[in-house]
Amino acid sequence: MMRIGMLTSGGDCQSLNATMRGVAKALYEMYDDVEIIGFEDGYKGLIYMNYRIMQPEDFSGILTEGGTILGTSRQPFKLMRVHDENDLDKVEAMKHTYKKLRLECLVVLGGNGSQKTANLLREEGLNVIGLPKTIDNDLWGTDMTFGFQSAVDIATNAIDCIHTTAASHSRVFIVEVMGHRVGWLTLNAGMAGGADIILIPEIPYDINSIVAALKKREKAGKDFSIIAVAEGAISKEDAGLSKKELKKKKESNLVYPSVSYEIGAQIEERTGLEVRVTVPGHMQRGGAPCAYDRVLSSRLGAAAAKMIRDKEYGYMVAVKSREISKTPLDEVAGRLKMVDPEASIIEEARLLGISFGDEPA
Ligand code: F6P
Repeated sequence: MMRIGMLTSGGDCQSLNATMRGVAKALYEMYDDVEIIGFEDGYKGLIYMNYRIMQPEDFSGILTEGGTILGTSRQPFKLMRVHDENDLDKVEAMKHTYKKLRLECLVVLGGNGSQKTANLLREEGLNVIGLPKTIDNDLWGTDMTFGFQSAVDIATNAIDCIHTTAASHSRVFIVEVMGHRVGWLTLNAGMAGGADIILIPEIPYDINSIVAALKKREKAGKDFSIIAVAEGAISKEDAGLSKKELKKKKESNLVYPSVSYEIGAQIEERTGLEVRVTVPGHMQRGGAPCAYDRVLSSRLGAAAAKMIRDKEYGYMVAVKSREISKTPLDEVAGRLKMVDPEASIIEEARLLGISFGDEPA
């Protein structure tokens, strides 16, 4: 009997279930005597030995289901080496669970922090395979993460809906898009939704440039505008501050709940235009995965099962040039994949007249 542990960790997203189903289906095809142990609520289940012995039926009918049948939680990497309130050594506890259950391998569906912990467990001698989850698409070592395209679709739909009301009322609308510290989601949803201005963390903005872009549209007879703002967007001024200074500034800024509201207020003050801010928030992580993600997840899951069969441990399954591939976990850990401001997609967007809020005003 071969036992494989599996957990979903960090913020949820669409296609987690589709990915687990992919791993399970391929494993059940390969082996008659495989048992999958599902840890509940991410690494928490591994630390505190909360698990379920999964049955093949558990993976039936979940291809299209959002969320995760195992539950998830955020267990910050920086706290992994810190003992819990009962003085439990979490890393030792995870190793103990792994050994007690006689696991052949642990499969971790997770984003940046989760893959960092997966790498830590690898360093501790466990067999680990990572699967690239996140709507942010910011994982190093893979072109694509599952969940991303589904979130792009939802954010695009939000921008589409805003378009009609913005046009009817001749307003400036800001749609704040998730993405943590990177702009992949905003860039893609912004382009797909026909945004006029796209602000992403990788290209710090200047409010004067945004105002100039809005005035240009007004001059051209366009009486409404759509701005897609990444939640991590940053002004040129703030980008020049040290981490400490920025933290202090954010803490003292009790006026605006997020960067979008600050930009909105600045635009109203400088132009007199009527501005509204919409924040779709966690909607972007919910609901059924899109067709692209279902296929991607199934492929990634099957590839993970193949890696188990071939005993290829210590990697994150990845997508490179549309082929399923793998990247060593120690290369993934602690690195962020950001949008390259010099990438051709940025140039193409600029050619379409999209402003990134950094053009000379
Ligand atoms: O990493 C996914 C993500 O949705 C980010 O885009 C966002 O910044 C964050 O998670 C929100 O986290 P939480 O669900 O803990 O509020």
